[in-house]
Amino acid sequence: MVSDRGPNEELFPVHLGILQPGTIAPVNLYIRDESSSRYVLYRTAQTPFTESVRQRLLERGVARLYLRSTDKDAYDQYVEENLITIVRDGLLPGEQASKAVYETSSRVMEDLFDSPESGRNLQRARQVAKAVVLSVLKNPDTLWNMTSLASHTYYTYTHSVHVAVLLVAAGKDMLGIGTETMLERIGHGAILHDVGKTRVPGDILYKPGSLTADEFELVKKHTLAGLSIVERRQKVPATTASIIRSHHERWDGRGYPDGLTGDRMRPIVRLSKIVDVYDALTTARPYADARTPFDALQLMLQMEGHFDKAMLRSFVKFLGPSEVRAQLLAEARRRLAGGRA
Ligand SMILES: [Fe+2]
Ligand SMILES: [Fe+2]
Repeated sequence: MVSDRGPNEELFPVHLGILQPGTIAPVNLYIRDESSSRYVLYRTAQTPFTESVRQRLLERGVARLYLRSTDKDAYDQYVEENLITIVRDGLLPGEQASKAVYETSSRVMEDLFDSPESGRNLQRARQVAKAVVLSVLKNPDTLWNMTSLASHTYYTYTHSVHVAVLLVAAGKDMLGIGTETMLERIGHGAILHDVGKTRVPGDILYKPGSLTADEFELVKKHTLAGLSIVERRQKVPATTASIIRSHHERWDGRGYPDGLTGDRMRPIVRLSKIVDVYDALTTARPYADARTPFDALQLMLQMEGHFDKAMLRSFVKFLGPSEVRAQLLAEARRRLAGGRA
């Protein structure tokens, strides 16, 4: 062990399951010396992390190393590059793996909404969508974990992640879609479904009042604009394309851009409409407060002509247990936070 007095600033814990044997973490890693409560330099940046190092730490009962907050960007990049392996290996407890996927996906989507024409950002979005799918397949609590992490304020980039997680989890459970490839196409479409909103002026997108007819016409363009942004850079399978194009179609044919009726839409597209509206209603937007899941679902059940009603009722059942658990967990966290204050 390298001797060092260690930094004074607040350090970030890193679970050992994040550090992949055979990789080089580009940050100095510290270990907490329990006897002195001090942090001591354990591995310098560029020193490979190996399986034997991992085993030695586990034998000592060490589950976490630490890094400086100034190294957070380099660390985030490391997590993104290794995300699929981190989730696939399953060395990280489920809740932490969900957190890594949620936070990385949100960061990637924020970058994508800043630079939507970047082929690299679109590729990164596809990779995090894969990690979402893998996470849902590996850990049945993924949706629950991510719901309790989810932002309660509406941002287009976190909304994209929420819709991806919900649509993949609900598509798997409600529609019985079990193949990884198909779920990846769904996750890919879901995470990119609103990328065309980058073409809609922000003052319209975040307008507190109701939109004029002309403004609404501009908002409606985001479906086809999104599809053209993605198709210019990537090969887009039909399922992925139909989610981006048709997530605002309505059961009664009065949606956009094509006015398709319910019977002309694939089930996953009908489900994408449900998931999209549900997530928007449960987050706080400039013109509306966040509704509780119960209120949002109740309102949706009263909205005539928008949804496949039978599918909406199964969605309510699908969400029931995980939503209740997520709410209980959020309340428990609030109580704990209050207790510490
Ligand atoms: Fe949309
Ligand atoms: Fe949306």
